[in-house]
Amino acid sequence: MAQLWGGRFTKNTDKLVYEFNASILFDKRFFKQDIEGSIAHVVMLEKQGILTKDEKNAIVKGLTEIREEVEAGTLSITEEYEDIHSFVEANLIERIGDAGKKLHTGRSRNDQVALDMKLYTRLEVLQTDLLVKELLLVLQEIMENHLDTYMPGFTHLQKAQPITLAHHMGAYFEMFKRDRLRLKDIYFRMNYCPLGSGALAGTTYPLDRNYTASLLGFEGPTLNSMDSVADRDYVIEFLSALSTIMMHLSRFSEEIIIWNSNEYGFVEIDDAYSTGSSIMPQKKNPDIAELVRGKTGRVYGALTAILTTMKGLPLAYNKDMQEDKELTFDAIDTVKNCLTLFTGMMRTMTFKKDVMEKSAMMGFTNATDAADYLVNKGVPFRDAHGIIGRLVLYCIDKNTSIDALSIEELKEISQVFEPDVYDAISLETCVKKRLTIGAPGMDAMKEVLKRNREYLDDEWQDDEPTE
Ligand code: ARG
Repeated sequence: MAQLWGGRFTKNTDKLVYEFNASILFDKRFFKQDIEGSIAHVVMLEKQGILTKDEKNAIVKGLTEIREEVEAGTLSITEEYEDIHSFVEANLIERIGDAGKKLHTGRSRNDQVALDMKLYTRLEVLQTDLLVKELLLVLQEIMENHLDTYMPGFTHLQKAQPITLAHHMGAYFEMFKRDRLRLKDIYFRMNYCPLGSGALAGTTYPLDRNYTASLLGFEGPTLNSMDSVADRDYVIEFLSALSTIMMHLSRFSEEIIIWNSNEYGFVEIDDAYSTGSSIMPQKKNPDIAELVRGKTGRVYGALTAILTTMKGLPLAYNKDMQEDKELTFDAIDTVKNCLTLFTGMMRTMTFKKDVMEKSAMMGFTNATDAADYLVNKGVPFRDAHGIIGRLVLYCIDKNTSIDALSIEELKEISQVFEPDVYDAISLETCVKKRLTIGAPGMDAMKEVLKRNREYLDDEWQDDEPTE
């Protein structure tokens, strides 16, 4: 047991208590951020005359070595330390002696862990954003290729009106675009540095918090030391954004599962992204989509858990907050995996243009357009609605579609029908006429694709995120 705080204790910690309290098994994940924060801290301490240049140099060198050795696998982070902060400090002291004992001057583990978690989360916000962008690029490509792939649009999972595959994909494009905006928003709101807040009430050392904040790429320091060590809003906001991403991925997965079913056959998931059955040789299952849908619950769970953990905590730091880590890490891993796999599945998917088109032709998706046709010939809409309703009933009885009826059959139901009706209610016309921005008509979609391209070129991240 290696602890930083033995001084006022006369007994050793009970073994079970030690294990229950320790966080090394999971906070080792942000050892790089811990070291990065410590380096910024000592650089600032030296600038402020709190450490000598030699002390600073020795500490920075020692910390850098620790990072390199852990990365190279020659130094392992073991359970004999309570947490990552103890591991780093103990190793530093072992390595460089007394100077190492000055690392924690003017700092508490409370502001230290607040910083580590923030640095880690900040990087993950950027990396998640890039993965969402990858998915958008794939969606954009599908859209460009399927401007005239007709398919039924649904409401209540009943065929409603004809749309195109590009239009359907475009709906998800908008959702994921909003997800990126949420991430961007979180990034800017969270980007203030808690380091220098001490345990809760700042410190008596003349720290330069602006300087540390700028060294670590923050907008500036946080402005209340109690809030700084007690704030996990950004974790909750991130989990909320991740939950929304999962909600979108899950809806999308659900549609892919339906489209991939034998009954629909709109798409075929690539062999590389499907799985088989141990008993039924004919099976090719959409397990990836199902898992993405399934894992959504787990990400919502993390959000609910942390909201609940935080809700009763008095200011400032409480150990309850240690619970933020495992859940957040798991949620981040889950969402990143889901995004990567989902994107790969979409990239390799085959769209069955002819099946989709046939499906759009059956099921009366042009019924609204047929009613509009009558309206254009002077029939009041409510009457037109009734006429087409009767026509649909007739077609159901004959197991056919409106456009397959002869002009005589049509005229029997309404004299207003003329041969130009066939063009007016063809799939192509039904889609083509929908030209308001946001609608599936070709020209409207082309405009959207152009705006999407501009959006995809306009980057808010300056560079690839680095650790
Ligand atoms: N492992 C702790 C956490 O994750 C680090 C902070 C410990 N601070 C304390 N006062 N015990 O929250």
